[in-house]
Amino acid sequence: MPGRTDLVIFGASGDLARRKILPALRGLDDGELRVIGAGRSDIQEEAFRKVVAETSGSEALAATADWVQLDYAVPETYGRLKEELADDRSVIFYLATPPQTFSSILQGLTASGLSGKDGRDHRVVMEKPLGQDADSARRLNAQLAELFNEDQVYRIDHYLAKDTVQNVLAFRFSNSIFEPVWNRSAVQSIQITAAEEIGIEQRAGYYDRIGAVRDMVQNHVLQVLALVSMEPPATFDPVDIRRAKHELLRSVDPIRAEQAVRGQYEGYLQEHGVDDDSRRETYAAARLSIHNWRWDGVPIFIRTGKALRRQLTEVVIRWRDAPHLKVGGHLQRPIPTLLVMRFQPNEGITLRIGAKRPGPRFEMVPAGMTLEYKRLARAPLPDAYENVLSEIMAGGHTAFPGGKEIERSWEIVDPLIQSWESEGHPETYSKGSWGPQAAEDLVTSGGGGRWISSGDEPGT
Ligand code: BG6
Repeated sequence: MPGRTDLVIFGASGDLARRKILPALRGLDDGELRVIGAGRSDIQEEAFRKVVAETSGSEALAATADWVQLDYAVPETYGRLKEELADDRSVIFYLATPPQTFSSILQGLTASGLSGKDGRDHRVVMEKPLGQDADSARRLNAQLAELFNEDQVYRIDHYLAKDTVQNVLAFRFSNSIFEPVWNRSAVQSIQITAAEEIGIEQRAGYYDRIGAVRDMVQNHVLQVLALVSMEPPATFDPVDIRRAKHELLRSVDPIRAEQAVRGQYEGYLQEHGVDDDSRRETYAAARLSIHNWRWDGVPIFIRTGKALRRQLTEVVIRWRDAPHLKVGGHLQRPIPTLLVMRFQPNEGITLRIGAKRPGPRFEMVPAGMTLEYKRLARAPLPDAYENVLSEIMAGGHTAFPGGKEIERSWEIVDPLIQSWESEGHPETYSKGSWGPQAAEDLVTSGGGGRWISSGDEPGT
């Protein structure tokens, strides 16, 4: 903890603050932290204190919480915020507001002398999406660089704060037996799935402008890909990890529409707040290529979507099949060796292998060796936002992507987003399915076999 800290949450009366940020403060109320909500709403301090008490469960935090009303776009209104902040406390500015407000808020902070380069311990935290394409991300990063030092900036990608995602690095780089087979000579394909059972819920206002590629691929999916496929970093310090991820992302080809499938779930147009003729994608799948010595020629399939069969977030590494297995004069179909890293639910890692079924015949069956991640934990796994907040308080950067990775990730998805803007209606898929049929063909024709969903796949 940086000691006595004021946490200023812009957009504190919004959905994200109530669902994720304020509940994650439970356990951080050590008497040194004060929450200040800032936003356009004319809510009174008492009402905000009630929200803090209900969401964080902490009477101590609620008792000291304050609300400052301001207009993000009017720098003069930031004066009251400045008065609230004591000079001898650290300040965290948390922008939990729509992305189009970021620039004005940063200007407002500067105009009132609250930005961070003057030696005070001020930090700024931003929710995704950071920009809406590579150009706007570059502008935002440039603005941030003028106002804050890079180590004062925290760009949130809550996937990086999931313990199971962080374990990818531990798994890869603390178990040297996998390194010799973590490359194009041994790996046949890689799949990344980030499937959700829920639809867009009450978020049409945000989602109908954004869609699956900006919401999930540009950030979470590409970050996971980078961790799975990057080179070993020089050290596990955040700067080196960021450098290794950025280098990997530079080797990923920008995605063209021919390598991708877009879908929209049946009933999306009837969701409250969605345009009647919206062409927004709620599903995206793509075949990616990484052009470097380790991965050249290995197809990488990614898919993400809403209203799918079930929630499932995982990476599947499929190794090349055994070249030859003849038993009793018959060629046996090889059982592909798979490594499944499951981030949620049933967090864990499964190595799916072929084994002999016990009995007189030499019969091969798929079998799994599984690490149940929860068994390693001393306490229930924390929510990603608890990790995010405690790391910001402690001044760590492991769970946060760097500005360059974010710009490069936009460069990877920009061509796809642009092509889709001018295309007709996406393919419709039924709620509760695994998405459009075309996504199956993408994998089959792209040399990946078929989509693998752990739980459905024998031995996983
Ligand atoms: C968010 C997206 O970043 O991630 C949401 O904006 C999505 O649309 C969520 O539902 C998924 O996160 P998780 O942790 O539930 O996989």
